Amino acid sequence: MVSVTKNWVHKAKKALENDDIVIMPTETVYGMAGNALSDSAIQKIYSIKNRPSHNPLIAHFHSVENIKQYVLWNENAEKLAQSCWPGPLTLILPLKENSGISNLATAGLYTLAVRMPAHPKARQLLAALDFPLVAPSANLSGTISPTSYEHVKCFENNVAMIIDGGKCNEGLESTIIDLSHEQLVILRPGTISIGQLQNVILNVKMADHANQAIKSPGLLEKHYAPSIGMRLNAETVLSNEALLAFGPSPLKGASKTLNLSIDGQLDEAAHNLYKMMRALDDPQFQSIAVMNIPNEGIGVDINNRLKRAAKE
Ligand code: TXA
Ligand code: MG
Repeated sequence: MVSVTKNWVHKAKKALENDDIVIMPTETVYGMAGNALSDSAIQKIYSIKNRPSHNPLIAHFHSVENIKQYVLWNENAEKLAQSCWPGPLTLILPLKENSGISNLATAGLYTLAVRMPAHPKARQLLAALDFPLVAPSANLSGTISPTSYEHVKCFENNVAMIIDGGKCNEGLESTIIDLSHEQLVILRPGTISIGQLQNVILNVKMADHANQAIKSPGLLEKHYAPSIGMRLNAETVLSNEALLAFGPSPLKGASKTLNLSIDGQLDEAAHNLYKMMRALDDPQFQSIAVMNIPNEGIGVDINNRLKRAAKE
């Protein structure tokens, strides 16, 4: 008897081989996946997401051996891969010449963002393919990323298939580190903290704003944004605001409050962030007031997303 598992892998593989798009779960957020070697598949992804073509995509692989076929590997990449993969870390590395990766995926850059996701379904799917999958977050460009099957159902008429992987464990996108220059730079903070990275490799720092614009075209724009406003570090709630609270003493007076973590746990807050932002994104409110989130550990990552969501 053919198992259910085999059926979904087979169906997704056929669709991807046909340059169609499949939404797959990862441990961070759901991704909108297509064949990284196919211009046609990648055009479909940009079009469904309404994503600016200058914003490159991350390629997802099953193994380091696969990755080495496409990029110039180095010692730092090896150390990070051994300590963090499969998992929520993306490495930027120089592309090999004639790698076959579509120019549309890299937006014409000479580097490629690579990652080995940990979600078992993503791994099962990648193992069945003989090409990598580019997969940006499965949301409309600029809006809140999807962390559950319910958040991606709206795309069922745009893609060949949606793979249900339940809720994403991490709930925030992967940490991105640029290994293509002598100075190693974190372009996007994520679940894997700068401290964890510094335990593995020396000489790594956070990107400064000016450099970031050049190195990671997608990272400066307003992003992760609800359709209503966001007001950060709120100390009071205005009459037309919903409240995104944090910790045991939520502000009083909001007609709707969701608490990222009543115990003040940053991990729990990261996990809940996008789900709660989506739930409060309701036109009956003018904006979402967000309480202060401590800027430590994964709080840095949460604040990075909140600041960009609140950008005018
Ligand atoms: O957790 C994740 O990374 C999720 C899951 C689905 O894997 N993916 C994700 O992809 O967040 P996306 O497209 O939403 O964000 C990728 C970011 C963009 O800001 C893009 O500018 C940056 O990675 N990026 C991609 N390729 C790059 C490159 N070669 N150099 C610098 N930045 C790059
Ligand atoms: Mg995204």
